[in-house]
Formats: sequence, structure tokens, C-alpha cells
Amino acid sequence: MHLAQPLPLPIVEALVMSKKVAVIRKEHFNAAHRLARADWSNEQNEQTFGRCSYPNFHGHNYEVEIKVVGEIDTKTGFVMDLKVLSDLVSEKVLDRFDHKNLNVDVEEFKNLNPTAENICVVIYELLRPHLDQKLDLFIRLSETPRNFVEYPVGY
Ligand code: NI
Repeated sequence: MHLAQPLPLPIVEALVMSKKVAVIRKEHFNAAHRLARADWSNEQNEQTFGRCSYPNFHGHNYEVEIKVVGEIDTKTGFVMDLKVLSDLVSEKVLDRFDHKNLNVDVEEFKNLNPTAENICVVIYELLRPHLDQKLDLFIRLSETPRNFVEYPVGY
């Protein structure tokens, strides 16, 4: 009986070499916010931001997807180690945002309205310096099950 031989390593590695793949980590955090501009009246804020402008804050269950795109490392078979990504997201984002009041507790939002759009860009900026330059990073954030934002655009 003929036993099939495994394909030689260089041929197997050539199958995945230069292939771009996305790895995605999903995370969750709860946070309070208020949408308002300090230089606008309460009336103007309510006209623009509706119930999200009420002065005493309100909470959201945020879902965030952190998508990293790059070539598969032929040695490990990884684009990046998801444990490393998970630890990075915990340290840079979740530890700072989860169960916090974004307006009051998070430096980045002291003077930046914590809309989903702005939160998404801030998450990107917090993570980007810690990832290999060869990897592309995309963030998707949902504030409610029906509303999503993405940054940067194009995936
Ligand atoms: Ni809100």
C-alpha cells in the first residue's frame, strides 16, 4: 500500500506565503457618557445630541472589533498572536474605558465629545503605536446593536 508523504515544508509554506489575512478580536466594555459641547447652551446641545445630551450622563454597552490585517508568518502560521492582541486591548483600552465615565475619567475625552466616531478613532490611536508597522489596523465600534462606526474606512 502506498502511504502519502506529507508535502515538503517549502511547498507548504509557499501555499500561505504572502497571503494577507485578517485576525479579529471582539471585546466589550460598559461606559457612561454625555454628548455636549461646553461652549453651547443646554438647549443647543439637546437640539443636536437629543437624549445623549442630558447633563447627568447615561450608559452604553459598547462592542468593539479590533481587526489586524497582515501576511501570515510562515514560521508560526499567525498574522499576529491573538493573545498578544487581547492583552494589548485590555491594557490600552478596556482597563481605561470599562465602567468609566468617558467624559470625566478618560483624558482623551476631557475636551473631545465622546461620540461613537470619536471613541473609535481614539481606540485606533491608542493601539496603533503598539502594533508592527507591517500590520494594518481597523476598528469597528457599536454603541447599540443597530449603530456601528468604523475607522479607518475601507474594509
Ligand atoms: Ni449615548
